[in-house]
Formats: sequence, C-alpha cells, structure tokens
Amino acid sequence: MKILAFETSCDDTSASIVQDGRKVLSSCVASQISEHTLYGGVVPEIASRRHCESIKKVCKEVFKRACVNIEDIDAVSATYAPGLIGSLLVGLNFAKGICLSKRLPLIPVHHLRGHVASLYISNIDLSPPFLCMIVSGGHTHIVDVRNYTEMQVLARTRDDAAGETFDKVARCLGLPYPGGMYIDKISYKGNPCAYENIPRPEVEGSKYDFSFSGIKTFVINTINNAKNRGQEINIEDMAASVRFAIVDYMVSKFIMIAKELGYKKLAICGGVSANTLFRDTMKKECKKLEFKFFMPKLEYCGDNAAMIGSQGYYEYINGNISNLDINAFSSKDISLR
Ligand code: KG4
Ligand code: ZN
Repeated sequence: MKILAFETSCDDTSASIVQDGRKVLSSCVASQISEHTLYGGVVPEIASRRHCESIKKVCKEVFKRACVNIEDIDAVSATYAPGLIGSLLVGLNFAKGICLSKRLPLIPVHHLRGHVASLYISNIDLSPPFLCMIVSGGHTHIVDVRNYTEMQVLARTRDDAAGETFDKVARCLGLPYPGGMYIDKISYKGNPCAYENIPRPEVEGSKYDFSFSGIKTFVINTINNAKNRGQEINIEDMAASVRFAIVDYMVSKFIMIAKELGYKKLAICGGVSANTLFRDTMKKECKKLEFKFFMPKLEYCGDNAAMIGSQGYYEYINGNISNLDINAFSSKDISLR
C-alpha cells in the first residue's frame, strides 16, 4: 500500500510517499528556517504563507523522486494536530483536495504519533510495545507505546519543552534559531562541568514529570550577574553545561521510569533526539542495563512527512480514516489518535 503524506505543523513543508508503513519511497522537506531566523523564532503568519507557496512543489518532487504516479497512491495522510493552526490547515486542506479529486481515503495523523513512527522507518526490527521519550520543540513526553495506535503519556513537562529550553538558552547566548543544534555543536568546545548548579527539579505531585523553565532562568540570572560585575560568561562552557544538565535530567528520569515500570525496550524520537550527547548517553545507559534501545535516523528526527506516511499506514489498517470535513487542532492528546 502506497501512502502520500504531508506534514506542515510548524515551519517545515514536507511531503513523502511511503510503502506499507516502513519503506520510504521518497521524502522532501522545504525548510523555512532562514526566514524565521531573522525573527529569532517561528512567525506563524509567515509559516502558513510559505507552506502555501511550497506545498505543491514538494508534492510534485516526491512523485518525481519515487517514480510513482498519482494512480499508484492508495491513500493520503496529513498531520491534523497538534501544531500551528494556520500551518496545519495548509497540509490538511491540500490533502483533502487530492482525496476529493482522486476519490482517495484521508488519514489524519497526530504529529507526535508521527514522531513515534519515525522509529519504524529507521529500525525495521522495531515493533510495539516499548517505552518512548518524545522530545521536540513543543513537547517532552514519556509514552507507553502499547501498539501502533494505542499510546498513553506516563510523564510530561509541566512548563517548557526540552527543545524550547535549548532554543531559549541559545537565544540568551546570542546563538541563531533554532538553537538546539547550535548548542549541540559548540558544546564540544566547552566544559560541561563549568556551571554545576543548573536545576533539575522534582515537581509536586509526580516524580515522573519534568520542569525545564528553571534552566532558562538560571542562564538569564547567570548572564545578568556576570554583567553586573563587568564580566562576560564563556558561551561554550555555558552551552556544554546546559546540554549536559538537560541530557542528564532526561536520561535519569527516563531510565528511572523504565526500571520502576519494568520496560526493557526504550526509544527516543523528536527533534531533540538528534542531540549527539542524548543519543550517546542513552546508548551507553541501555547497553549497561541490557535494555534494547532504538532511535530515528538523523534525517527523521526533525519534522518530516515520511513519519506521517508511516503512522498513516498503521492508522489506516486500524480503520482510522476520516471524512473530508475534519478540522485541524492546535492541541490534542496523543492517546486520542
Ligand atoms: O520535532 P521538531 O523538529 O519540531 C517540533 O515538533 O517541535 O523539534 C524541533 C526542536 C527544536 O527545539 C530544536 O532546537 C531541537 O528540536 N533540536 C535539537 C537538536 N536538533 C534539533 N536540540 C538539541 N540538539 C540538537 N542537535
Ligand atoms: Zn515535531
């Protein structure tokens, strides 16, 4: 079964053709980063305009790259939640148009379920159940993936997401948007133990949940205190220390939850799963504990339509197709499809 997929939930316009949920026949991502960098973050109005301009081009491109015709396509999937509403609507409505004109079924896909499926296109031998940490710019969840379409959040952030924290700290340090990647790069030149008091808080009511907002506050206060003393902070040292603290906080909690609940098969996904220290630390910890560990290929960590085509397949075989009057939603729990 061949699925044509679209992903436009934030600032990447992406299309893909995926066969039977696992084989990516083609994938194309048009990034808008260079434009949003000028403003230090994603400007929703600009994002939806650029999606409108790019979606036809990326769609044409994936047919060309896969050497496939529209007549070979069996269904169309598109991200419908969560994300920027104006951005989501572009991909969803484009998908609806194709479904209407070619009489194809429409499969709405939850963006975070798509991130989980990035693991299926990267690891042919992975199947549920497993414990998955989804870490992106907008979400930090630890999810019990019971089967391909049944998921439950066991832990989440109470405030900022991990990716958002990387981006906000990068901004304080004068690094470009999106900062996660830049922090990761320059961290290798810094000392991860230079700033030792970066908070890794426990939150009230759940020892599993995260809170990241104190990390950004720590960085702002440290910069201001240094300025007041007429000093400057070492950017590489701060980047390395923040990267170390975030990764240590995420990995410790993830492993603690896995041990307590008896999971031995772990996975990470989402934009932050591209972080080199996070990947290496998880690999090492899981090896030590004799846990199985899976992560997406680097090209499928960030937002892409191939993961939406993969999840679309599993939603389809579970009967999760939709009428063409379905709306997009800026937020929706992963357990609700
Ligand atoms: O999943 P994603 O592409 O978009 C959302 O669904 O949010 O994640 C984007 C996030 C951004 O916050 C970005 O800074 C972060 O992933 N990111 C990284 C790295 N590469 C991307 N964070 C840390 N280290 C990286 N290498
Ligand atoms: Zn994402």
